[in-house]
Amino acid sequence: MILDGRDPASVQRAAEALRAGQLLGLPTETVYGLAADADQDAAVARIFTAKGRPSDHPLIVHVADVQGVDHYAQAVPDFARALLQRFWPGPLTLILPRRPEVAAAAAGGQDSVGLRCPAHPVAHALLMAARALGVHGVAAPSANQFGRVSPTTAAHVQDEFGEELLILDGGACEVGIESTIVDCTRGVPVLLRPGRITREQIEAVSGQRLRDKDELAAPSPRASGTLEAHYAPRAKVRLMEGTALQAALEVLGQDFDGGKATIAVYARSMLRVPSAKLLYRRMPDDAEAAAQQLFAALRDFDAQGVNLIWVEQPPQSTDWEGVRDRLRRAAAS
Ligand code: TXA
Ligand code: MG
Repeated sequence: MILDGRDPASVQRAAEALRAGQLLGLPTETVYGLAADADQDAAVARIFTAKGRPSDHPLIVHVADVQGVDHYAQAVPDFARALLQRFWPGPLTLILPRRPEVAAAAAGGQDSVGLRCPAHPVAHALLMAARALGVHGVAAPSANQFGRVSPTTAAHVQDEFGEELLILDGGACEVGIESTIVDCTRGVPVLLRPGRITREQIEAVSGQRLRDKDELAAPSPRASGTLEAHYAPRAKVRLMEGTALQAALEVLGQDFDGGKATIAVYARSMLRVPSAKLLYRRMPDDAEAAAQQLFAALRDFDAQGVNLIWVEQPPQSTDWEGVRDRLRRAAAS
């Protein structure tokens, strides 16, 4: 059931549902989450079951403000403090050492916990209302079935989990791809997942070089957002440079009638599309606008029965790193 997230009575009802151990579809500025009280292991277990997600994959815990950090984390390094002071509320998740007595199920048994303070006004209102009921934090992975594309509207969440789920509608997500994740448990910041907040921003604020996860000897904890094949639509995704994509279109030629195959083209460049049987959608030139649309575009192509999505490789600059990462994984499955 979809409720208007701007209505305080709906927010209160949603907070009470969390307190009672139920699941909730929650809007954030990145993507919608499938939420439960992070301190109720039985409620958290329902998230894993609903998503079909292995229970040792840790979830992000959402907090209303920096106060929430002290409930879940211990020994917060200075560079992590600097990051959360600068980027919260916002699309940045920090992995911190966990206080052993809290959120064990949400953390998937790791001795760390992923914390994020979302900027979306509906998420903030919900977290404040929940805290007033004694809920310190809300565990919420993206509200999609394991391995699928993350939802960026309330309707997407309903498509994934059906009419039964209580969903707060907060409109279309503004960022569109999941938060940047920085592991702060290894003495230096390590990038686990790129997002809207870029490498340069993290390095400038932390005063440290951001390491990549394969740079350090010990393996990073298991993280489904870091699995190679993830974020996949039903259609097969192929990434190509603009010139190669144009050449492939020429090969299909004017006579291409589709037959059993429906091909969609998603490109920034103005391409010559020889046949009207090819679906063509422009990807925005701006990285933030492209991220905002990306998952909704992949879902739209699926809804139109497309079998193949040919995507123009985004630019190599760091502002595109989040979009490149999601597309590479979509193409890997
Ligand atoms: O933008 C987002 O981060 C969204 C919205 C809903 O906030 N959430 C999201 O959650 O993307 P999820 O579960 O789909 O991805 C969370 C990622 C996973 O790859 C998870 O493994 C990793 O964060 N993660 C969470 N806690 C962790 C921990 N303690 N150690 C390592 N990775 C962790
Ligand atoms: Mg996810």
